[in-house]
Amino acid sequence: GAEAARITARIKALLRERDAVLVAHYYVDEALQRIAEETGGTVSDSLDMARFGHEHPARTIVVAGVRFMGETAKILNPEKRVLMPSLDAECSLDLECPAERFIPFCDAHPDRTVVVYSNTSAAVKARADYVVTSSIAVKLVAHLHRQGKKIIWAPDKHLGAYVQEQTGADMLMWNGACVVHDEFRAQALELLKTQHPTAAVLVHPESPAAVIALADAVGSTTQLIEAARTLPQRELIVATDNRIFHKMRAAAPGKTLIEAPTGGHGATCRSCAHCPWMAMNSLRALLQVLETGEREIHVDETIRARAQLATQRMLDFAH
Ligand code: 13P
Ligand code: SF4
Repeated sequence: GAEAARITARIKALLRERDAVLVAHYYVDEALQRIAEETGGTVSDSLDMARFGHEHPARTIVVAGVRFMGETAKILNPEKRVLMPSLDAECSLDLECPAERFIPFCDAHPDRTVVVYSNTSAAVKARADYVVTSSIAVKLVAHLHRQGKKIIWAPDKHLGAYVQEQTGADMLMWNGACVVHDEFRAQALELLKTQHPTAAVLVHPESPAAVIALADAVGSTTQLIEAARTLPQRELIVATDNRIFHKMRAAAPGKTLIEAPTGGHGATCRSCAHCPWMAMNSLRALLQVLETGEREIHVDETIRARAQLATQRMLDFAH
């Protein structure tokens, strides 16, 4: 309504005044995605968020997403100010892989190359040889496997299992999962497919293996939106955070998007197809951070510099 329009106008003015650019993930509120696009920022997957912030000249990067995305921006741009609408926006993968446990685990396997998913803290990235996002995990691990490297993979067990199945690499796995994607259920999905026999199934690889096995396309959020655009099917069943529907609808006009079924629908589901931490990125929180300049991301310089090496290797490889 009128209140949202007023806040939006104020946010746009403040972004200009503060020489700030808004970098948003597809899982945040539609209103924030629109502002990012209308003000010269971007909405993208985690790899492109990292690239965009790095290449953009603005002095301040405002990251609408979860903490690891803000930390990645800071890791790559130590001279810039990085702000987030909420500093409490975590990620279950990050939380389940604390550096205090991860570092000794790596130390116990010195013969292995350490590959960590971008959904981790700066301290975990600092212990890694490579950071990867879902968009390039298979390619990068295949490359390492061809070089004869044995791998430590953390923290997502589902993405790890998918990468292992695709590449045949020797991977020692951490046991983490995403609270959102872990809820997708293969049996219910099979049933839904029988009701929509011509539909294509799009799956983010943080989902369980049995769900991935039913997919017509598997990939990062950007890759799933591209699949929605290019696949010939008119009906698409989508297993990822449902806030992606905003951009998917725009990319695939006229197609019908259907949410893939989750375990606890209507009952105990902690996070039915929407990440509770992404949901902390409200219009009001964005306005507040721009008004106050508080909620800045800081990363210890020694950790940052080490994490930058592993993160930069990802960007170089992705090019
Ligand atoms: P993408 O890199 O595919 O955007 O994934 C980030 C994420 O947190 C998915 O849950
Ligand atoms: Fe983390 Fe899952 Fe939320 Fe993505 S959707 S930020 S992987 S908890």
